[in-house]
Amino acid sequence: MALLEVENICKRFEKTEVLKGISFTLNEGESVSIIGSSGSGKTTLLRCLNFLEMPDEGLIRVRGETLFDSSAPAGNTEEEIRRKRLHFGLVFQSFNLFPQYTALENVMLSPRLVNGVPEEENRKNAEALLSQMGLTDRKDNYPHQLSGGQQQRVAIARALALKPDVLCFDEPTSALDPELTGEVLRVIRKLSEEKTTMIIVTHEMAFARDVADQAIFMDEGVVVEQGSAVEVIDHPKEERTKQFLSRYAEA
Ligand SMILES: Nc1ncnc2c1ncn2[C@@H]1O[C@H](COP(=O)(O)OP(=O)(O)OP(=O)(O)O)[C@@H](O)[C@H]1O
Ligand SMILES: [Mg+2]
Repeated sequence: MALLEVENICKRFEKTEVLKGISFTLNEGESVSIIGSSGSGKTTLLRCLNFLEMPDEGLIRVRGETLFDSSAPAGNTEEEIRRKRLHFGLVFQSFNLFPQYTALENVMLSPRLVNGVPEEENRKNAEALLSQMGLTDRKDNYPHQLSGGQQQRVAIARALALKPDVLCFDEPTSALDPELTGEVLRVIRKLSEEKTTMIIVTHEMAFARDVADQAIFMDEGVVVEQGSAVEVIDHPKEERTKQFLSRYAEA
């Protein structure tokens, strides 16, 4: 059974249909890159999976548990949505750290508030995650004392601290200067080698191909092509995928 099953997700904002029936599955330990031009619906899809938006239609299952099913609408209380959200970790383009807290405190905050993890255990976990991100010597720094790449690595540690089933990235390097993207891509690559289940929205095509098992090309709210990352990115079959990728080849 796939870890994540996404079926026919549709989302409209007033008259605009932004997602027109997105389906894919993801096995445990696998990652998928999602590529596509601006406005194709990539962020909206991640927001729907994280219940930051409610899909209008479709089905979302994690480990066989139905988190969302539009054909059987149950009263989704705030409390239930908060719990469902914990299946997914989300790392945004803009790191969104709490400026008043140190790196370590940023990582410790949610496990303390959401899961009630005991202080000592929480600190140990957070320190281990920051060490995994290569940030041991930065743990007591505040966000303004950190580079963008360092802040993004703290944000990744923070997302991992809640032990999500699926870690989602929305263009994790696009707010960074080119010389800082490498350090963030390296930690994501390492997470992939360690078999973290991930959905990675990115404009870095070589990275999308190398780090992920599968790739999905989205255009205007539909999945145009999906398959192994190498196939989709190096040998696209669909005309729209070829056109999209050729713009990167020229750049
Ligand atoms: N809250 C909203 N209200 C109305 N329209 C929205 C809303 N959020 C997104 N949209 C529209 O949905 C479409 C898809 O947006 P989305 O941000 O998902 O695209 P994207 O693929 O992430 O683009 P980019 O690569 O630029 O980040 C766009 O046309 C956008 O204007
Ligand atoms: Mg986006």
